Amino acid sequence: MKNKIRVKDLNFEVMITAAELDKAVSEVAQKINQEYANVEEPIFLGVLNGSFMFMSDLMKKIDFESELSFVKVASYEGTESVGEVKTLIGLNDSIKGRHIIIVEDIVDSGNSIEHLTQMLAELEPASVKICTLFFKPNAYQKQIPIDYVALEIGNEFIVGYGLDYDQLGRNLKDIYVVCNE
Ligand code: IMP
Ligand code: MG
Repeated sequence: MKNKIRVKDLNFEVMITAAELDKAVSEVAQKINQEYANVEEPIFLGVLNGSFMFMSDLMKKIDFESELSFVKVASYEGTESVGEVKTLIGLNDSIKGRHIIIVEDIVDSGNSIEHLTQMLAELEPASVKICTLFFKPNAYQKQIPIDYVALEIGNEFIVGYGLDYDQLGRNLKDIYVVCNE
């Protein structure tokens, strides 16, 4: 593992190692295993692109029957009066009446998760819970409960393990944080 790296114009240093990530993912998986033991075939719904690595490691630690799907939230410009409109792509199967566990890479202000839960609610799932690898409690501005949090961090910007800086750095095994020099 390299301690310091450069991604585009920024310097980063290791903040959380792959081993520490593995432990945090195990802990959150254990909690979900306990709470979903008697829930009929839940669907883990990963939000692309950031959640792909977390989802992969999380699912290996899940011990009940469940399905997996990914969605992407795309924005497009609506009519001028509407402004930015968000839409969900990739949801082929009906989620009506199903128990959904959203899998996110990081919840920051909460804007994304709020949009997503609103769009999902229209599809009438039986229940929706949120599982995120990282949560920034000091940046969070919404009321929606974040049910499963693997790791809480401050307001610093991180990359690695699926998270990107301008689409780069998703392949890194460890989590890196912005640093000076
Ligand atoms: P929110 O809508 O403010 O909660 O932020 C959601 C999105 O911002 C996440 O899905 C990430 O794509 C991005 N994001 C927020 N903080 C970070 C970070 O520290 N590193 C990389 N991406 C981040
Ligand atoms: Mg993202």
